Amino acid sequence: MSKEERLVAAEVLSCDIDEVSLRPRTLKEYIGQTKVKENLAVFIEASKQRKEALDHVLLYGPPGVGKTTLASIIASELGVNIRITSGPAIERPGDLAAILTNLGNYDVLFIDEIHRLSRSVEEILYPAMEDYALDIIIGKGPSARSIRLELPKFTLIGATTRIGLLTSPLRDRFGVINRLDMYTPDELMLIVKRSASILKIGIDDEAAFEIALRSRGTPRITNRLLKRVRDFAQVKGNGYIDKQIAKTALDAMEIDNLGLDAIDREILLCIIEKFDGGPVGLETIASSINEDAGTIEDVYEPYLLQLGFLNKTPRGRVATQRAYEHLGIKR
Ligand code: ADE
Repeated sequence: MSKEERLVAAEVLSCDIDEVSLRPRTLKEYIGQTKVKENLAVFIEASKQRKEALDHVLLYGPPGVGKTTLASIIASELGVNIRITSGPAIERPGDLAAILTNLGNYDVLFIDEIHRLSRSVEEILYPAMEDYALDIIIGKGPSARSIRLELPKFTLIGATTRIGLLTSPLRDRFGVINRLDMYTPDELMLIVKRSASILKIGIDDEAAFEIALRSRGTPRITNRLLKRVRDFAQVKGNGYIDKQIAKTALDAMEIDNLGLDAIDREILLCIIEKFDGGPVGLETIASSINEDAGTIEDVYEPYLLQLGFLNKTPRGRVATQRAYEHLGIKR
């Protein structure tokens, strides 16, 4: 394992420790993404019956909607081990070769941010995915020869927020391609109640719904907000979360009734006030508010687009009438 990979693995582990008890372990426990779950259950069962490795799976969708969680569930439903890594952590072809040769038969290899694999690493992946083989060149110049190493039969699960950045040869090698959508408030409310019961937090339905409404369609945010609202209930209340304390806590954290935070509002205000509502380029918005363009595109924009607050046009981003109304600004 390279140094960077060790660091990333440690990071994954440490965020797992915090979240570990809240993550669902089985498809039955996993709330939402109904169609994806139903189909995966069939593919998992079929591969187990045939005693074959599950075909490679690509999961895409916005950050925080449960791609890593689902990958761990797939491995546990298959009854195999999972090895977790990420595109940028695999620097050289040799790093990937080491990971692949250390897998057990039918194991799952999870590569997060798979769109960030380098070309040379991606090329190792093609024969590995297609033929469970590793082509290695030995020697240099005229005496160089290629040998083929057999790999264990494994399942690659790739995750990405940017399916458009995947090359088509890589995308075409996945047998199962699933999009994970943002969650509805009702689904998020079930997640709040499930997490609250695991953390032994008292909460009523109205309060759970309030947190759900402000979670911008994302379970990761739901669980984070629940923990912070619990802090408020403990310090400013009697520990129990009712609608009033939930509202007080969320308002104090500057999360509005649609779940927009200070940065979401800053993005919209920037387009509206500095650039007359747009169109304005992503890079211009990014430098104007001192935020990374990739972060705006991957983390903030998906929810603003989903709310219909933002339009992407060939000439740049445009704030919609709805955004003006939400912010209480007249055109
Ligand atoms: N915690 C985080 N995501 C979840 C999900 N989809 N279902 C249940 N609990 C969760």
